[in-house]
Amino acid sequence: MRTVNVDLGERSYPIYIGSGLLSHIGQYFKDHGISLNSPLMIVTDDHVAPHYLTLLEKLLLEAGYDTVSKVVKAGETSKSLSVLEEVMTTAIEGKLDRNSTVIALGGGVVGDLAGFAAATYMRGIKFVQIPTTILAHDSSVGGKVAVNHPLAKNMIGAFHQPEMVLYDLDTLQTLPPRDVASGLSEMVKHGLIRDGDFARWCREHASELLALDPEALEYGLALGCSIKADVVSRDERENDLRAILNLGHTIGHAIEAVAGYGEYMHGEAIAIGMAGSARLAVRLGRDASIYDETVSMLQSLRLPVTMSSHLSTDDIMDAMKHDKKFREGHMLFIIPDSIGSVSIVKDIPEQLVRETIDQLREGGETHV
Ligand SMILES: NC(=O)c1ccc[n+]([C@@H]2O[C@H](COP(=O)([O-])OP(=O)(O)OC[C@H]3O[C@@H](n4cnc5c(N)ncnc54)[C@H](O)[C@@H]3O)[C@@H](O)[C@H]2O)c1
Ligand SMILES: [Zn+2]
Repeated sequence: MRTVNVDLGERSYPIYIGSGLLSHIGQYFKDHGISLNSPLMIVTDDHVAPHYLTLLEKLLLEAGYDTVSKVVKAGETSKSLSVLEEVMTTAIEGKLDRNSTVIALGGGVVGDLAGFAAATYMRGIKFVQIPTTILAHDSSVGGKVAVNHPLAKNMIGAFHQPEMVLYDLDTLQTLPPRDVASGLSEMVKHGLIRDGDFARWCREHASELLALDPEALEYGLALGCSIKADVVSRDERENDLRAILNLGHTIGHAIEAVAGYGEYMHGEAIAIGMAGSARLAVRLGRDASIYDETVSMLQSLRLPVTMSSHLSTDDIMDAMKHDKKFREGHMLFIIPDSIGSVSIVKDIPEQLVRETIDQLREGGETHV
C-alpha cells in the first residue's frame, strides 16, 4: 500500500493506493472523522454498480453507517445539470445533512458529478472518492469537480477537495481494455509534463500496465498521483502552473465535443491532443525527437495519435474557442520543451494551429 499526500494546508488529504483497501473502509472512514450520525450518499454508475455497489453498501452498514445510493447511466452524458438534479433529489429524500458525506464510486464521470453535488449540496458537504478507473488517478486529485454544458465541457463546476481517496486496485480488474488504455493516457501525460523518466517507464512497462499487473499499477498510479498532487499543491486554483496539466487538452476537449461526447474516450482524445502539441512544439522550433518519442509512448499504450477523417478543422477550431483555456481571445497551448518538461505558450498563430489539426487527421502526414 502506498499513500500520496495532497498538500493543501487545511484542505490536505491522503490518497491510499493498494489492493484490498475496500474491506477496511469502516476504519478509514472513522479515522477521517466521517460521522456515524448522518446518512451517506453513494453515487455510482450502472456499469460499476453491479460489481461493487452491494459490497460497498454492506461494508458501510457493517461499520454502522446509513447509506442511500444513486446509480446514474454510465458515460459522459451523466455529467449534466439534469442528472445533477436527480442526484440532489436522492440527497434530499435521503435526508443528507450538513455532516453527511458524498461517496463517488466510479471513474472520472462519477467523481466529477458526485464531487460537484458535494460542493453545492447545502453549500458544500464532505466528499470521498473511491476511484475505479485508471483515469481517475487524475480526476481524483486536485478537487476540480464539474458537469458539462451542451456547448462546452466542464463549464459548470467548483473546486472541492475530498476528505480522502481510497484507491482499491482490485476494482480495476473489471475495467474494459479501452478504458485501461484511456486511463494510461493521463498517466503518461504526468510523465510528459514533469518527469521524462516516468514517461519512459510507462513505455517500458506498457504491457504490464495494459495487463493490470498490480505492482506496475501501484507504482504508476502513485507516481502519477504524486506528480499531479505536487503541481496542484503549488497552484490549487489554476492561476498559472496548474495549467500544465492540460497538456493535450485544448485539442482533446475540442475533439470530444465535435465528435460528440462518447465517440472518443477522454484519454483517447487527449492522446491525439498530446500528439498535436508535440507537432506544434516541433513547428515552433523544438527538437523533432519530441514528436517521435511522444508518439511511440502513446502507441505503446495502444492509444490513438490521429483522429477520424470526418472531423472538420473548422469545427475543432470553433470548439477550441469555447474552451476555458481560450483566454481573452488568445490560443493558449501547453507545449513540450523536451520529454518531461513543458511551457505554457500564448499567442500561437491560428494558421499554425489549423495546419496542425489538418495533419492530425487519419492518413495525414506521419512526420511533422
Ligand atoms: N476533475 C478532474 O480533474 C478531471 C481530470 C481528468 C478527467 N476528468 C473527467 O473524467 C472523466 C473521464 O473519466 P473516466 O475515463 O474514468 O470515465 P468514466 O467514469 O465514464 O469511466 C469509464 C467507463 O468505465 C466504466 N467503469 C468504471 N469503473 C469500472 C470498473 N472498475 N469496472 C468496469 N467498468 C468500469 C464506467 O461505467 C464507464 O463506462 C471525464 O468526464 C473527464 O472530464 C476530470
Ligand atoms: Zn484529462
